[in-house]
Amino acid sequence: MSNSAMKDGSSNVSFSAQTLALFEKEVAKYPPERRQAAVIACLTLVQQEHGHVSSDSELWLAHYLGMPAIAVHEVATFYNMFNLEPVGRFKINVCTNLSCQLRGGQKALEHLSQKLNVSPGRTTSDGLIRLEPAECLGACADAPVLLVNDTHMCSFMDNDKLDQLVDALHKEGAQT
Ligand code: FES
Repeated sequence: MSNSAMKDGSSNVSFSAQTLALFEKEVAKYPPERRQAAVIACLTLVQQEHGHVSSDSELWLAHYLGMPAIAVHEVATFYNMFNLEPVGRFKINVCTNLSCQLRGGQKALEHLSQKLNVSPGRTTSDGLIRLEPAECLGACADAPVLLVNDTHMCSFMDNDKLDQLVDALHKEGAQT
């Protein structure tokens, strides 16, 4: 990835040339007067590069897309996949909505909380793992489920599988 970056006068944030090109690609999918329609895709790219969406990034994006900063903030706060502060290297979203709740979703969250020694909504003291409760993740038939880093769905999570997952994340975290 190129290290070249662009700075915008309205904020202190910068992005790699690759991310800037991806912003352009997303914006090009819409008519010029509708470029703000790319806001979710651009927020996703911001998070991919920085790990979270800071208020500086929101300001930068508002300027880039020609929309009010509050409108970018509304989108960033509406969808819980956007991290508004730095999170651990791994984020675990445990579904505690109805179908998962009926099959042990809350117990899975509590088991992870005990094993990681961290409260839901917090990051472990070593900065490795963020634990979050989540609304329905769209995989009710596989309940209880959880999502790692917003991309990797884990199904039918009993205590053994939860323990294996935590061990695997610790192992991966130690390697890099
Ligand atoms: S209720 Fe958990 S995935 Fe739908």
